[in-house]
Amino acid sequence: SQIKQVEFVKSSAKPKDCPKDDRPEFAIVGRSNVGKSSLINALVRRKEVALTSKKTGKTQLINHFLVNKSWYIVDLPGYGFANAPESARSDWSSFTKGFFLNRETLVAVLLLIDASIPPQQIDLDCANWLGRNNISMTFVFTKCDKTKAGSKGKRPDENIRDFQALIRKHYRQPPPWIMTSSVTGLGRDELLLHMSQLRNY
Ligand code: GTP
Ligand code: MG
Repeated sequence: SQIKQVEFVKSSAKPKDCPKDDRPEFAIVGRSNVGKSSLINALVRRKEVALTSKKTGKTQLINHFLVNKSWYIVDLPGYGFANAPESARSDWSSFTKGFFLNRETLVAVLLLIDASIPPQQIDLDCANWLGRNNISMTFVFTKCDKTKAGSKGKRPDENIRDFQALIRKHYRQPPPWIMTSSVTGLGRDELLLHMSQLRNY
């Protein structure tokens, strides 16, 4: 399940411009600033592959990265810009939802959830939308290295437990989940193994 080679393939403004071939792909999805680009960089161990930024909304295109010439990681724009006008929010939904519903090679969505803050309604909404549309997903909790954060000052493991409790109200069988940190590398090998199992399923 190791990554030997990774190359940036292209940025697409629209789902119809994405690479057209049979290789399986994983979409990285989550709130703006949750750590999508950082996770990709940590997975492939190349700092410069996916741009990261302290400014939210950096990734505005669908970015395809080809791994080992055999499968794709897809970096999608983040949802839920705190200060974005309503039009930008509905843009995200039509743009990205179109991608999910029409991508036959999509193996699973990696839904990134910030473990340093309490459960966010927008993340629950996204999980429920994917679930309703029968799109396979894995919860990838990010920033698990942060010992204390969030308004109520809960630890990542407590925030994760709270999130899972809310998810269990909607799912008889909750999606698989993995704890990660792009800073310490926590969860990297587990996530790579998980993705290789999904590809070979
Ligand atoms: P958009 O492209 O704007 O949607 O953001 P993104 O989801 O790609 O987030 P990005 O990877 O740019 O990271 C956002 C911020 O969170 C940056 O300041 C990162 O350094 C920080 N960050 C990301 N992952 C981690 C992590 O695992 N731990 C800690 N402590 N910080 C992280
Ligand atoms: Mg990004």
